[in-house]
Amino acid sequence: MSASIKGADSVITAGGTGAVRGERMAELDISHDIDVVCEETTIASLGTHAPAEVTLDASGCTVLPGFVDCHTHLPFYGWRADEDMARLSGVRYETIHRQEGGIFRSKKLLEEATDQEIIDFGLYQAAAMLRAGTTTFETKSGYGLSVEAELRQLRLAARVTELVPQSVVSTCLAAHAVPPGYTEGQWTGEVAGSLIPQAAEQGLCSAVDIYVETIAFALEHAARLAETAKSLGLAMRIHADQLENGQSAAFAARWGFRSADHLNHTSLDAVDDLAASDTAAVLLPGATFTLRQNKKPPARDLIQAGAIVALGTDLNPGTSPLHSMPFVMALACRTYGLRPAEALVAATANSAYVLGLEDRVGRIAPGYRADLVIVDASFDHLVYRPDADLIGAVVCGGEFVYVRDDFKDRLSN
Ligand code: NIG
Ligand code: FE
Repeated sequence: MSASIKGADSVITAGGTGAVRGERMAELDISHDIDVVCEETTIASLGTHAPAEVTLDASGCTVLPGFVDCHTHLPFYGWRADEDMARLSGVRYETIHRQEGGIFRSKKLLEEATDQEIIDFGLYQAAAMLRAGTTTFETKSGYGLSVEAELRQLRLAARVTELVPQSVVSTCLAAHAVPPGYTEGQWTGEVAGSLIPQAAEQGLCSAVDIYVETIAFALEHAARLAETAKSLGLAMRIHADQLENGQSAAFAARWGFRSADHLNHTSLDAVDDLAASDTAAVLLPGATFTLRQNKKPPARDLIQAGAIVALGTDLNPGTSPLHSMPFVMALACRTYGLRPAEALVAATANSAYVLGLEDRVGRIAPGYRADLVIVDASFDHLVYRPDADLIGAVVCGGEFVYVRDDFKDRLSN
């Protein structure tokens, strides 16, 4: 099928190719009065007024690349609102974790749910994300916490992937919490020696992640998993310096990890390590917001030093029950000091880099997957009005996967 988005006020995208660093993050490519023409699943051309089978009149609108959410904990099952209530009364996340709530609670909920219940819950989340403009996202394990249960979670992620229009990339985060009866080293050994090789062989993940904190794992375990990931051709990622400064970001940069995520407590000397590396700094302001953390990542320093800065929702039932990348962009601008242009690049091209998809998604350019968000306002409204329903339509893989009721008469075929 061919589809064309005609007559938008502006079409805005990161320019160039690959990850974007430093001042270039604020330099968007902005075009006026051009059509975006899609053939099958890809963007065929820009600017040509070519006939198409389906056309959307985008006058008065801004066309953006579909958002890329490079950090989620999908699929999970059930929420943990009561833990949030406890936290809002002053109980710490770490205390809930030590009392076998938190990640252990989600492990139990996943264990007790049927495959179909988990798939349906995942589809509901993916639909909410699509509605908010997310056309590519990450799935992760980490609520299984045994070899079999982690493989089950990864297989369920693959099932959800088959059923959604979005592009999905899957990560093995078995080193998320230390299962009862294991030491950190024993579980890491089993993950490295048995789980990851099986998951890789079955094509169930393309990256490995680890949670390095006092309540979870240490850098020696990250090193062990990084060796395994490297030998199997998988990318390595790390939940870094979220609750304390564990020197994880500097470690990730020196070891060539694909990304270091969270970074609330990352020190200024690690900023230079990240900037000198190809390790992306993934900022997750939704978790900072939900946990009411005063300590924020050195976001402006990271951008000024030239690090690859990306954004994700961190969608999970504990620390970030959020689906919307525009909302995360607004948080990034208001609480971390990003400029709206930087937030857009972080939520598209750079987030695609984190998932290894920078050649295929995250930009509006010929040859890229036809993933587009049609916003019913100028770009500056997106971050300015985070709770407004500004998305009129979403194109994913060349299909109109969402068209708001009042946008239906803009479609013609
Ligand atoms: O990215 N803190 C570690 N992992 C998640 C939270 C997982 C959970 O609480 O279920 C995070 O914040
Ligand atoms: Fe996370």
